[in-house]
Amino acid sequence: MVILVMRAARQTGSARRRHRLRHCPPMIRPAQPDDVPVLLRLTEQTGLFLPHEIDTLSELLTDYFAGLEQWQHRAHVLQRGNQAGGFVYYAPASLTDRTWYLYWIVVARELQGQGWGSQLLRFVEDDLRQRGARLLLIETSSRPAYAPTRAFYQKRGYVPCATVPDFYADGDDLVIFIRRL
Ligand SMILES: CC(C)(COP(=O)(O)OP(=O)(O)OC[C@H]1O[C@@H](n2cnc3c(N)ncnc32)[C@H](O)[C@@H]1OP(=O)(O)O)[C@@H](O)C(=O)NCCC(=O)NCCS
Repeated sequence: MVILVMRAARQTGSARRRHRLRHCPPMIRPAQPDDVPVLLRLTEQTGLFLPHEIDTLSELLTDYFAGLEQWQHRAHVLQRGNQAGGFVYYAPASLTDRTWYLYWIVVARELQGQGWGSQLLRFVEDDLRQRGARLLLIETSSRPAYAPTRAFYQKRGYVPCATVPDFYADGDDLVIFIRRL
């Protein structure tokens, strides 16, 4: 009986937490150094990225907090309640007139398909418009596993403008999406 009551209390607690998370509006805030382990974990948990890509992200975030911020690189986190639920990383393309790259956009696996990725992308676009940016480019892969990702960009108004065959590996092309801001 006591166990049942305790279990019921625990379930009520977690149901309350779920309710709070669902109704807690997300906040998009600048990334902090102590976000890094969580961001790497949620990126890994998408199951989409290869180990060397996670290592590259780790190096990028380390460099970002070591000074890339000063070169206009920007990293923002989607915060829901007390959890980081995703992030974006974007930076100017050097030697161009106000062209930017979206290097990374990731939403935690359990939150995908609920509109958070669209909110993050809208945040990036608004931020870049305020900075006078002209073009936003996104590079991705032609692999079948990336079909939902490519559909996401196209639904958000990005146009595939170039393909480099076998760029990442044989049979794995680079696809470049573009949007004028
Ligand atoms: C791509 C990604 C950032 C989109 O974020 P999201 O929160 O899932 O996207 P939204 O809910 O705002 O938009 C949903 C749309 O995106 C597409 N989509 C992409 N991945 C999806 C997923 N896992 N689940 C559902 N929809 C997905 C669908 O076209 C969907 O449109 P629909 O609702 O009309 O079916 C996210 O799914 C993700 O992190 N994927 C893994 C990492 C990745 O691919 N990053 C980009 C590398 S280039």
